[in-house]
Amino acid sequence: MSGDKFVINFTRGVPADESFPIKEITAATQSALEKYGTTILQYGKAYGFQPLREWFAARQEIAVDNVLTANSTLQVIDFLCHQLLQPGDVAFTELPTYDRTVTLLRRHKATIVGIPLEDDGPNIEVLESELKKHVPKFFYIIPDFQNPTGLTYSLAKREKLAELAEKYGFWIIEDAPYRPLRFRGKEQTSIFKLNPTRTLHLFSFAKIIGPGLRVCAIHGDAQLLAKMAKFAEDTYICPVMFSMGAAYEFCQAGHFPAQVDKLKALYAPRLQACLDAITQLLPNVDVTRPQGGFFLGLTLPEGVTTAAVMEKAKAYNLNLAPGQAFFPNGGGERFLRLPYCALSPEQIHEGISRLAATLKDVQAK
Ligand SMILES: Cc1ncc(COP(=O)(O)O)c(C=O)c1O
Repeated sequence: MSGDKFVINFTRGVPADESFPIKEITAATQSALEKYGTTILQYGKAYGFQPLREWFAARQEIAVDNVLTANSTLQVIDFLCHQLLQPGDVAFTELPTYDRTVTLLRRHKATIVGIPLEDDGPNIEVLESELKKHVPKFFYIIPDFQNPTGLTYSLAKREKLAELAEKYGFWIIEDAPYRPLRFRGKEQTSIFKLNPTRTLHLFSFAKIIGPGLRVCAIHGDAQLLAKMAKFAEDTYICPVMFSMGAAYEFCQAGHFPAQVDKLKALYAPRLQACLDAITQLLPNVDVTRPQGGFFLGLTLPEGVTTAAVMEKAKAYNLNLAPGQAFFPNGGGERFLRLPYCALSPEQIHEGISRLAATLKDVQAK
């Protein structure tokens, strides 16, 4: 038993406190109030703050009608479920997938079909065989530095998905909050670029500027977005214009690319520290090797469950999260997500040492 005093949390995928651009956001907020005070303190359009919509449209090279800004990705996913799903309708997700989306899909009484994820994207054989059984209303995917595995789709799988969505007639919801956070390797074309008529692309400032802003955008079909805007209006009149004004001024001042660079410099060594410690201390554990983002995924050795490790880890002041929440159709008993961004390289090394000690205890039983 270790006498470790401080707690290490490998639990939630939160940004590091030291990543927040407080000085720049303070200036951006002041500037937004000076320039747009009466707009951002007033009720606005359900589509959100118009200059920010235009910023997103220019960034994606699309018409402004194809952009809706809103209060957080999760809210947008809920709006999409309201628009696209009736109870019992089929929705595909990756296996594993983001647990909060699973919760929303369950709330909407969707029939969830998980498509196993491989190192380069979904298993296409399983996908095609499931498509022959039922065409989903949508396939919810996170192709860049996926939550919870950190995996990224190859171009070939992106193209295949874009083609299958067209052939079978389903929406792809491409959730991409981690996309700018590539530490190495080459950026892959977004599925939205490959098939803009069938893809609904979500981007959030949560992991780049800060989740507290609750600012995100959905890019996609103008008619569907118009229906969502009406639904948004009936739900909250308009999104938080004040946050949107600050986010817009932040981007307008040119801070967005500098912030992305800052995050990469902060997080890349953390991912490396995590991979190095796992190679050194957990050689028998199967691990994903992401090129960016917030997470990596471990599969514990046969005969060891995440639940047993989680329980024992408490004695080492190590908090872990259950893996099964990411598997909507069961499974994931040996899966463990490791969010590394909010820990220093030293804490990461210490956390992996504690995990290795815990695993030894569990295996010794
Ligand atoms: C894949 C994915 N989508 C959405 C979110 C939540 O984003 P937001 O804060 O914009 O709701 C997260 C946060 O962890 C995420 O990992």
